[in-house]
Amino acid sequence: MRTPFVAANWKMHKTVQEAIDYARNFVPLVASVSDVDIVLAPPFLALPALVEATEGSRVGVAAQNVSAEPNGAFTGEVSVGMLGAAGVTQVIIGHSERRQLYGETDAGVNAKTRAAIDAGLTPIVCVGETLDEREADRTFDVLDRQVGEGLAGLTPEQVAALVVAYEPVWAIGTGRVATPDQADTVHRHIREQLTSQFGDAAASGCRVIYGGSVKPANAMELMALADVDGALVGGASLDPASFAAIVTASRPSTT
Ligand code: 13P
Repeated sequence: MRTPFVAANWKMHKTVQEAIDYARNFVPLVASVSDVDIVLAPPFLALPALVEATEGSRVGVAAQNVSAEPNGAFTGEVSVGMLGAAGVTQVIIGHSERRQLYGETDAGVNAKTRAAIDAGLTPIVCVGETLDEREADRTFDVLDRQVGEGLAGLTPEQVAALVVAYEPVWAIGTGRVATPDQADTVHRHIREQLTSQFGDAAASGCRVIYGGSVKPANAMELMALADVDGALVGGASLDPASFAAIVTASRPSTT
């Protein structure tokens, strides 16, 4: 039985004060939820304040990106060591916006994933096809490459402990959510790929979560799918009540 994993990706939204205000509202709303791993990923600047504001709760804090380098002359970058020292426990790696807008490659995702694991952070590795790739019937090829190269060289134990986020690019911020059938097919495929690359134990431990226009209204039917282990939520996570409703819909007792 995998514990559901539900993460809020705020992207480039919220000041430090807005992050603190959010936590004050949100933490009580999920105080009774002990069967879902809950994570908030604010912009870098708000990480320390959010770590402090969520202290003593089960809500974890993730970064939205990280450098693969330990330190050095890399202007604008933040290292895994800096995140760990700030109390951050997870990090989103290879989000499609980073791949599309900032040229991130599968090799880069792999380097960041290894660096995160070595530093004791849990990677949330994002994969997903574009609309063109889906329409050209290349979805599985793209995912096999992203999973295969992104996780290359990891041990089965490392894979069992990380999170893969399937985010079809055409569903991100568009209101066009994958149907349960589409999500089910892809999540099962990713699980099979993990099995063939890393074995049964790794594949059955790894949480594979869905992202792309997840809302309180559609969360429950997605979370009910056997191979969907949670959600990575953008727009609908910016409001505490809306994100709390998605967390609640992801509880094993509900799905
Ligand atoms: P939306 O929920 O706004 O579609 O964003 C999804 C996403 O990219 C989360 O990482």
